[in-house]
Amino acid sequence: MQAMTYRAYGTPDVLQLTTITRSVPEAGEVLVQVHAASLNQADLYLLRGEPWVARLSSGLRRPKRPTLGADVAGRVVAVGGGVTEFQPGDAVYGDLAACGFGGFAEYVCARAEALAPKPASLSFPQAAAVPMAAVTALQGLRAAGPVEAGERVLIHGASGGVGTFAVQLAKSMGAHVTAVCSARHVEQARALGAEHVIDYTREDFTRDSRRYGLILVVNGRRSLAEYRRALSPRGRLVVAGGDVGTIMQATLLGPAVSIARGVRVRGLVARPSRQDLMLVGHLLDSGAVVPVIDRCYPLGELPEAMRYLASGHARGKVVITMEQAGQ
Ligand SMILES: NC(=O)c1ccc[n+]([C@@H]2O[C@H](COP(=O)([O-])OP(=O)(O)OC[C@H]3O[C@@H](n4cnc5c(N)ncnc54)[C@H](OP(=O)(O)O)[C@@H]3O)[C@@H](O)[C@H]2O)c1
Repeated sequence: MQAMTYRAYGTPDVLQLTTITRSVPEAGEVLVQVHAASLNQADLYLLRGEPWVARLSSGLRRPKRPTLGADVAGRVVAVGGGVTEFQPGDAVYGDLAACGFGGFAEYVCARAEALAPKPASLSFPQAAAVPMAAVTALQGLRAAGPVEAGERVLIHGASGGVGTFAVQLAKSMGAHVTAVCSARHVEQARALGAEHVIDYTREDFTRDSRRYGLILVVNGRRSLAEYRRALSPRGRLVVAGGDVGTIMQATLLGPAVSIARGVRVRGLVARPSRQDLMLVGHLLDSGAVVPVIDRCYPLGELPEAMRYLASGHARGKVVITMEQAGQ
């Protein structure tokens, strides 16, 4: 089978289209014919081996896993021993980050628990755009407590993979959503349900008088103190992405800041969850949430797709489609 592989950390140029042997599913595994996969920032970290902490799981000197790709959608081809929830022919999707990646290939063996039935209303490319970004957004919104109906929720970085889901999920929870993005994404944020949109190139939300019950930081480069200034009394701040220093501060100092300042501050480490993916799946099938896809590339153009994601300005998700995929 064809797969995009790499043998050394580096730029997207180290990725090569290679013919490799198709794996046979072991007990608890499912062999999936991948129809589409999507890119995440995690793929870029593992491609570059940076930040350095990414190498702890993927190999200190060179990558142990030759094929990246966490988010996949496809059809079950075979199941290993003990797998009862799927059978050949089932359409599935999932996030393989906790079970070895490997989605940028025509076939991948995945742990059954990483997969869920594909929402019937979505095409394979749409489904591949969902797992990691949507589950991160969902877990981020509730990491410091549930969102309440009518609560003011601000999403800092509302236009990329995670941000477009965060706006819609917050809206589906009944929040009054403020989206922070650049001017070229203002209309999209409104269309996804944001009541109020702030262009970060012209306005500084940490300096106006509006206060928020929850700020979810997806992308952005502000300090903890600046974010805290925009919180209402007993407000919650969850830092999922953006500036590495702010993520570390939120993770390490969050509990102390929370006690000292009467707010709740958390750094987020999202984890793949079938339960959360199923919850998102229902919202997708109901039409309350839609995946936003910026660009699709064929498998052989993964390096170009990676370069585009690395530009930091993707509008929603970047998706890889397989030529053999029947939609
Ligand atoms: N904590 C976790 O477990 C977890 C899980 C998944 C992802 N993440 C992190 O979440 C972050 C976002 O991931 P993603 O997949 O959504 O990335 P992404 O799709 O690459 O994000 C691209 C978007 O970010 C926006 N952006 C760039 N700079 C910005 C700024 N200064 N202020 C506001 N928006 C800005 C861009 O909009 P413009 O073009 O308008 O600037 C673009 O639409 C990454 O840091 C990723 O590592 C964390």
